Amino acid sequence: MAQIEMPRATTSDFRKYASLIQRELLGSLFVNFSTGATTSNVASSLHGRVNDVSATRLFSPFEIGSLKMRNRIVIAPMCQYSATDGEMSDWHLIHLGNLALSGAAILTIEATAVTPEGRISYGDVGLYSDGCQRAMDRVLTGVRRWSDMPIAVQLGHAGRKASTEIPWKGGHQIAPGQEHGWKTTAPSSIAFREHYDQPNSLDKSGLERIRKSFADAARRAAALGIDAIQIHGAHGYLLHQFLSPLSNARTDEYGGSLENRLRFPLEVFETVRSAFPSEKPVTMRVSATDWVEAGWDLEQAIVFSIELEKRGCAAIHVSTGGLAHNQEITIGPSYQVPFARAVKQAVKIPVVAVGLITDFEQAEAVLTTGDADLIAIARAILYDPRWPWHAAAHFGESIQAADQYLRCQPRQFRHLFEQKKQ
Ligand SMILES: Cc1cc2nc3c(=O)[nH]c(=O)nc-3n(C[C@H](O)[C@H](O)[C@H](O)COP(=O)(O)O)c2cc1C
Repeated sequence: MAQIEMPRATTSDFRKYASLIQRELLGSLFVNFSTGATTSNVASSLHGRVNDVSATRLFSPFEIGSLKMRNRIVIAPMCQYSATDGEMSDWHLIHLGNLALSGAAILTIEATAVTPEGRISYGDVGLYSDGCQRAMDRVLTGVRRWSDMPIAVQLGHAGRKASTEIPWKGGHQIAPGQEHGWKTTAPSSIAFREHYDQPNSLDKSGLERIRKSFADAARRAAALGIDAIQIHGAHGYLLHQFLSPLSNARTDEYGGSLENRLRFPLEVFETVRSAFPSEKPVTMRVSATDWVEAGWDLEQAIVFSIELEKRGCAAIHVSTGGLAHNQEITIGPSYQVPFARAVKQAVKIPVVAVGLITDFEQAEAVLTTGDADLIAIARAILYDPRWPWHAAAHFGESIQAADQYLRCQPRQFRHLFEQKKQ
């Protein structure tokens, strides 16, 4: 592996910096939200600075490799816990079909396990068998019949956080041997919580099996015509477990120094990259901090991002947390955006910001201030699957709508729906 250079700033410098940006950002948003006049003044001054293709940055097009996006709104991956043996169900056809009509730029399929034991729960989607591939093909064929929205898939492995009950039935871990439970694997034999079963520490052949499973899943995704792969390196799942010193106590070349902790996630990235068509993007979702003292932090996440960029990673999607049950997160609007900004300043590839971006002006500001190239939304688009339509209406922009829905265009938004070429 190439020698890894550490940035000069220290962790505490980054923390100070992150909280400073956060305070500024929250402060300015507060002003924006508090009076309509201030908001529109800010918005119009920001709009003046963006390119001439579109009045807003949110609705300006963007390209990553062969992936063409109509705007900057990414639908973040969201587990639905509604698969059987890793196979998508009719729920996925309804759910993904609904989101595919939203007008967003790209739809990311939920965390999709590369092995059965890599599923968070028995209801997770997988891409590890012909049955999984056939079920996903059926859903994608149905969705694509009515929407040309590009579709990405998030490939992941839950490691020590696998084998859980589905959230609305409690979400607790299910012990191996019990119905729907299995033995989990991880970098080290350190349980996620005291009452969780201790995972088996992966040996060399276990690591090889997982690398191969990522590659096989990437090939299946290619065969399904998936437009991009996002590798799940965040939220305390297997790859994040290798990155963080809190979950990785290995004494071989995969543990200890930062260079060693990055090794397995980077190997997985390289494996997926070489198994997926070169013109199609492979991206990484990272947690930029564990929110725990002496854990994985922004400084290390930046080094990881730089190493990913060197290996052809097409974009970094910046989230946080999920590794440690004692994490202390200060949650508020845009709370993860300062981390995206810090990563963006260190790499040239596109950066995606996510986390409580719910307001149209807020989303636009994240882009126009240069904090990120794209914004991702999860809960806001579940709550309001027409969020992109409403954002377009708010800004006087146009957006694609299905032919079947064209007659619902409100009278006051005469140019909301894009005119189709006949
Ligand atoms: C129902 C639900 C399921 C989620 N599943 C995933 C997932 O499969 N993979 C992932 O990386 N994040 C997942 N997340 C996290 C979201 O992608 C997102 O990062 C988080 O909700 C913050 O964004 P938001 O404030 O726009 O919701 C999920 C979130 C929700 C609400």
